[in-house]
Amino acid sequence: MTTADDTGWLRTPVFEVAEVAKRYDDWAATYDQTLQSWNYDAPQVAAGLLVDRLPNAVVLDIGCGTGLTGLALHQQRVAVIDGLDLSSESIGLARARNVYRDLHQHDFNSGPLPVSDDSYDAVLCVGVMSYAHDPASLIREMCRVVKPNGTIVFSHRSDLWREADFPTMLDGFRNEGLLTDTSWTDPKPYMPGNSDFADDILVFYVVARVN
Ligand SMILES: C[S@@+](CC[C@H](N)C(=O)[O-])C[C@H]1O[C@@H](n2cnc3c(N)ncnc32)[C@H](O)[C@@H]1O
Repeated sequence: MTTADDTGWLRTPVFEVAEVAKRYDDWAATYDQTLQSWNYDAPQVAAGLLVDRLPNAVVLDIGCGTGLTGLALHQQRVAVIDGLDLSSESIGLARARNVYRDLHQHDFNSGPLPVSDDSYDAVLCVGVMSYAHDPASLIREMCRVVKPNGTIVFSHRSDLWREADFPTMLDGFRNEGLLTDTSWTDPKPYMPGNSDFADDILVFYVVARVN
């Protein structure tokens, strides 16, 4: 059973999918409380960035977890939100919020998202990129399921952002014509109340338009 006291594994993300699912299943019941105690505001920040760019969007929340991002979108008057996540326990809690239209259990490392091309106005992906075995493929999938001129918003922690050189990857997508109007924030506090992250690991938010 993972508790608020033994989340040290977050700093070095687990990569093995079954292990990730188990950890989030075990944590689901106390996840919201723990994240609140760490002053985690990424769902609200990311939802705000999306709504500023594209109000009233039909949104897919990738890695929706217990639904904190769906709740933030709902509070910012987004009406149609679907979600997908690996953790069935987390999905159950997300469903209980009554803010999602559809929820799917899916491993995004297993292949294409279970979604047709051009299905959404926007994708949001918050606190999740660390678990992508191939972040570039996941971003390509986001672009596939979003309509032309739609928006993608995702967060990524500063240590892994630098390690994988996200600016060069995003420039590549712009040069390829997949994304336009790509911008990212300065690094912001991520989980300031978690001593493993605090001032050491911050978070970038990316906002981009899909061509
Ligand atoms: C830090 S939580 C973020 C949840 C939510 N977006 C939030 O901000 O509270 C990471 C989420 O990513 C999900 N996740 C991790 N690996 C995944 C995968 N391969 N496919 C789908 N979801 C995954 C986990 O189950 C977990 O719910």
